[in-house]
Amino acid sequence: MHSREVKLAAYASKIAREDPILARVRRESDKHRKTHGCDVHPSDPATGRMLDVLVRATRARRVLEVGCGLGYSAIWLARAVPLGGRVDTIERDPLHSKLALRNFKSARVHNRVRVLRGDAVSVLSKLKGPYDFIFEDATFGERPRHYGDLIRILRIGGLIQFANWFPLEYAVLGGRYLAEWKRQFPPGNAPEKTRRFVEDVAQDPKLSVLLIPHVWKGLATKLEN
Ligand SMILES: C[S@@+](CC[C@H](N)C(=O)[O-])C[C@H]1O[C@@H](n2cnc3c(N)ncnc32)[C@H](O)[C@@H]1O
Repeated sequence: MHSREVKLAAYASKIAREDPILARVRRESDKHRKTHGCDVHPSDPATGRMLDVLVRATRARRVLEVGCGLGYSAIWLARAVPLGGRVDTIERDPLHSKLALRNFKSARVHNRVRVLRGDAVSVLSKLKGPYDFIFEDATFGERPRHYGDLIRILRIGGLIQFANWFPLEYAVLGGRYLAEWKRQFPPGNAPEKTRRFVEDVAQDPKLSVLLIPHVWKGLATKLEN
């Protein structure tokens, strides 16, 4: 993202009313990434608030997350579901799921959250659903291998939020922006791969798809099986 967007995103996070428990889990996630050398990038508070608003507005009761990390976004989701609602969150790294469970206890949402341990491809192939709301936060810069299963278990009228469509920005702007990406991340072609994935999803006749520029999230609701 560029400086204008960074400033605006920081402002959106500032007004998101993240409480001290969430702030601590977010800090812990950032610290953990640096020491563990993994890919736990916690959502920012504005994304947490976006999850909260969408889950409440759609009255989602069965929520699925792919990519639990240390539990930051799952806490937002668990607080947003109504009484009797459930959040399932998939995580393949055993240390992450252990730390997340501890965070769910300290946030007092452990009765509403279940961590499904293992790789998303194998966990999702066994899930029946239907889920009202899905947050995909495990895949970056490519089409998730588990895409077909995500759509299969989303109920008709349910909503899916794709967290990591931001490399698309570099593909769409092209030129010096794309050159900047290539300087920072020499191997791989995340912007073009993300673009192909996004355009594919946008053409899926089973979905109605919205790309939110600037925050670079994708939202899709399911129309039919
Ligand atoms: C970006 S972090 C998730 C952050 C979390 N949603 C939050 O906002 O705090 C991605 C997580 O997904 C997990 N992950 C990545 N690929 C996965 C896969 N194929 N199956 C299961 N977990 C995966 C990683 O171990 C990591 O914990």
